[in-house]
Amino acid sequence: MTTSLTSKRHSAPAILARKGGDPVVCLTAYSTPMARQLDPFVDLLIVGDSVGMVLYGMDSTMGVTLDMMIAHGGAVMRGSERACVIVDMPFATYQESPQAAYRSAARVMAETGCSGVKIEGGSEMAETVRFLTRRGIPVMGHVGLMPQSVKSAGGYTAQGKSAEDARHIMADAKAVSEAGAFSLVIEATVEKVARDITAAVSAVTIGIGASPACDGQVLVTEDLVGLFGDFTPKFVKRYAELGAEIEKAAQAYAEDVRARRFPGPEHCFGSKNLSE
Ligand code: KIV
Repeated sequence: MTTSLTSKRHSAPAILARKGGDPVVCLTAYSTPMARQLDPFVDLLIVGDSVGMVLYGMDSTMGVTLDMMIAHGGAVMRGSERACVIVDMPFATYQESPQAAYRSAARVMAETGCSGVKIEGGSEMAETVRFLTRRGIPVMGHVGLMPQSVKSAGGYTAQGKSAEDARHIMADAKAVSEAGAFSLVIEATVEKVARDITAAVSAVTIGIGASPACDGQVLVTEDLVGLFGDFTPKFVKRYAELGAEIEKAAQAYAEDVRARRFPGPEHCFGSKNLSE
């Protein structure tokens, strides 16, 4: 991994400086070609542990490993030059102690060259966020719906509906921001919660299913382009139907091969029909 002193890449402090300004545009990416396509249009790329469900067919994010995140983080770094790239820390690689979190995060930073790491959790993770940020590792928090805790939280449902739940999420967001997180993903909360948090914290809030009240927005790219069909959350807007396009292409290819229409002479080396 090499880093350049003349990098065009947005840093975590540059993203923090966007607080309250033009919306921060963020998408997920897991691979070099996808990062290459998204990089000109976004400020931030999150290498999410959603990779486990989206690319590996897992039924939750719990089985994703640090090695998987490092491989995908490195791929996204190689495909991007402008975006601030944040790599998700997977389940059980940071919760045990600040020291364990540091060891995992330091590997991610050193082996991918990314701009920072993302960890899920609220007040209980504040000490860890402080430990990492004081040692030079930029941290993005993640509150509201937290996929790594979905089994104890009772499923993928909107958060912050009751006053007590809303207070709890606000306390989590404040704790993580005050501990030094430069940014905070707020997932699947009612609008008022996202609005109140965005006004209360110094971290840049990035909403996913958390209303336009946030400082920026993120979606899972495969949801946005129609490449992940297992389920589509209410907060996703489809901008393309690439899944349907791939099916059409595969069907046309299969028909051509079966009818011996592909490969044609133009696809062959030394074909009798060519003058070479
Ligand atoms: O895992 C993921 O993709 C995420 C983003 C949706 C923020 O956490």
